[in-house]
Amino acid sequence: MARQFFVGGNFKMNGNIKTIKDIVKNINAAKLDDSVEVVIAPPTLYLLLAREHLRPGLEVAAQNIFDKPNGAFTGEISVEQLKDSGITWTILGHSERRVILQEDDSFVASKTKAAIDGGISVILCCGESLEQREANKTIEVVTTQLKAVADKVKDWTKIVVAYEPIWAIGTGKVATTEQAQEVHAAIREWLKKEVSPEAAEATRILYGGSVTEKNSGELSKQPDIDGFLVGGASLKPAFVDIINCKGA
Ligand code: PGA
Repeated sequence: MARQFFVGGNFKMNGNIKTIKDIVKNINAAKLDDSVEVVIAPPTLYLLLAREHLRPGLEVAAQNIFDKPNGAFTGEISVEQLKDSGITWTILGHSERRVILQEDDSFVASKTKAAIDGGISVILCCGESLEQREANKTIEVVTTQLKAVADKVKDWTKIVVAYEPIWAIGTGKVATTEQAQEVHAAIREWLKKEVSPEAAEATRILYGGSVTEKNSGELSKQPDIDGFLVGGASLKPAFVDIINCKGA
């Protein structure tokens, strides 16, 4: 079965009530390719606002969760709270959290397990630094990050993998189609060996890192690129063109 194309918008720590309402209004008014699964991830404070205004059929994601049930965990949000609010997805393991908040592979894996066990789908991010790429360690780094999850989570049907080379995030320096396809194919090969042939076939692998309406069309033609996780451009009206890039 063909994998459904997926476009996620990661707003990061951007936006306010007015701009998030405007972004949602723009998406709601657009004619979107209805074969594409669309998920937007505003900051936690605006999850309910986005869910309230976004048209049905489009989903909302948190940018993070905690790996424990409700309780004495100041500043965190739980899987149960997301579900209660109609939020069906979460991003996990974004490099900004791995690097700035020092989340390690095992913590990301434990949060992925909590989300999946609780019924929340996960956009699981992985990716190498420039230094690691130059040392030819890209595949090793990415598969080590994914293996930590595979050790704890056996069912990958609710996981979408996002390959996001750190050097391409927010830099305007997009990976070439060949660079992206090469890593995506390696991730799929890894899934086949370490998870299952079915998971390799069915799991969407997104590319993220300076995706725009200008480069999305070419990237989307690669056989192992099943969509995008878009940062900066998801805050702009051109996000709609990225969603529609397959038909462009
Ligand atoms: P960018 O961010 O599109 O702004 O490079 C992508 C991401 O971090 O998910």
